[in-house]
Amino acid sequence: MRYITIALAKGRLAKQTLALLEQTGITCEEMKDKDTRKLIFVNEELKLKFFLSKTSDVPTYVEYGAADLGVVGSDTILEEGRKILDVLDLGLGKCDMCVAGPESAREKLNSGRPIRIASKYPNIAKNYFYNVKHQTVEIVKLNGSVELAPIVGLSDVIVDIVETGTTLKENGLVVLEKICPLSARVVVNEASLKLERERITKIIKDLKQTLNTENEY
Ligand code: PRP
Repeated sequence: MRYITIALAKGRLAKQTLALLEQTGITCEEMKDKDTRKLIFVNEELKLKFFLSKTSDVPTYVEYGAADLGVVGSDTILEEGRKILDVLDLGLGKCDMCVAGPESAREKLNSGRPIRIASKYPNIAKNYFYNVKHQTVEIVKLNGSVELAPIVGLSDVIVDIVETGTTLKENGLVVLEKICPLSARVVVNEASLKLERERITKIIKDLKQTLNTENEY
């Protein structure tokens, strides 16, 4: 039997996903060792392989079939624009993609004047401003702590994830527009789904069932 490979995004989401998989009977003891520097973990019995990658690389591994399945946030899926199938909403890590900035930027945002936007998500920002709002804007790509940009005068507004809203609040910024809700998704490689339909659909079905049972309480 061929191995089914699952790509997980390093960090909190990977831990939550593993806990969820465990409830469906899919375990990977090797992965629980905090000190390990291993990158790939195997469950010989179930013929499964798991690996942890940088979040933004998960859709790439899945598109190329290096991973059959992946679990990653819809922010990354939208940003990366890879050819993958988004098959299940895990409802984990719920948050929103927003345009945020100082209250004073609200007027400028809707004035039609040129504005500059800083974001870790240039493609999401571009799509929203160009294709949804039909507004020409300048987009500056940053790699983190994006809230700094309007404070120090790098940009007028930001496009970023808002979860609790604490980061914005503590920096005197507000949500100006909501772009879309986000959550963790299971993504699948198209060819893998054809090749291993039975095993992959079972994993998805079991996850769905676990989520439904959890929601009943
Ligand atoms: C994310 C996001 C916001 C913050 C939102 O950043 O980019 O900065 O979390 O969360 P909140 O609404 O609950 O405050 P992350 O922690 O990933 O760090 P980074 O910006 O440096 O990438």
